Amino acid sequence: MNTSRHTDTDDYRTAMGKLLVLYTHADDLIMRACAERIATAPDEPARLALAKQVGDESRHVAIQRAWMEKFCTAATPVLSSTQESAILDHFRKLDWLDFLTDMYLCVEALGSDAVEKIVPLADPGTRESLHIPLQDELDHIDFGISRLQQELAKMPSEKRKEFLARIPGRIESLYRVFQKMNPNIREMFEAVGADYDEIRRSVLKRREEVIEETGRPLAA
Ligand SMILES: [Fe+2]
Ligand SMILES: [Fe+2]
Repeated sequence: MNTSRHTDTDDYRTAMGKLLVLYTHADDLIMRACAERIATAPDEPARLALAKQVGDESRHVAIQRAWMEKFCTAATPVLSSTQESAILDHFRKLDWLDFLTDMYLCVEALGSDAVEKIVPLADPGTRESLHIPLQDELDHIDFGISRLQQELAKMPSEKRKEFLARIPGRIESLYRVFQKMNPNIREMFEAVGADYDEIRRSVLKRREEVIEETGRPLAA
């Protein structure tokens, strides 16, 4: 492994710094979108899970900010305030099922998959800073998938099939928005030594897995 040499350069620090800013920004937006959703969540367990997630995401933001300060990266925001508002507005307008799909299948499951691919290439400090956040994301993904399974179980089978068939398109259009907001995303990943095409392939595979899992009938 030649990671120590590769991670010792200024170019690496700048590049990893940008990805950390993006990840922290995403967590901050997730926290705000989930906080807003508590008021309209359909029941008490959902409100509790969202409230717990708000706490988790706020902790992730704090961990990442503390690490970025030590790591000495320039925390230039990667998203403008207009883009931030557009993202929050998108989540605000979704009904419960689409919220679950966009937030947990797309943002949490697929976003975490991409971040996980960076971990082996990262310096020890960055790796450590991602440990707790990535662990918590697993709970968030579990919540999203199990709630979607519950909702789908209540639907007639035709409607369920239709809903599942729409998921790849939802994910694709959200990804296109993300790419438009971050036109240099490929370069950002490649600058830390990641193979962007490999990450894309992994995320697409993960997308199939989460859709398959979501469509699985609930155990009796
Ligand atoms: Fe997070
Ligand atoms: Fe999360």
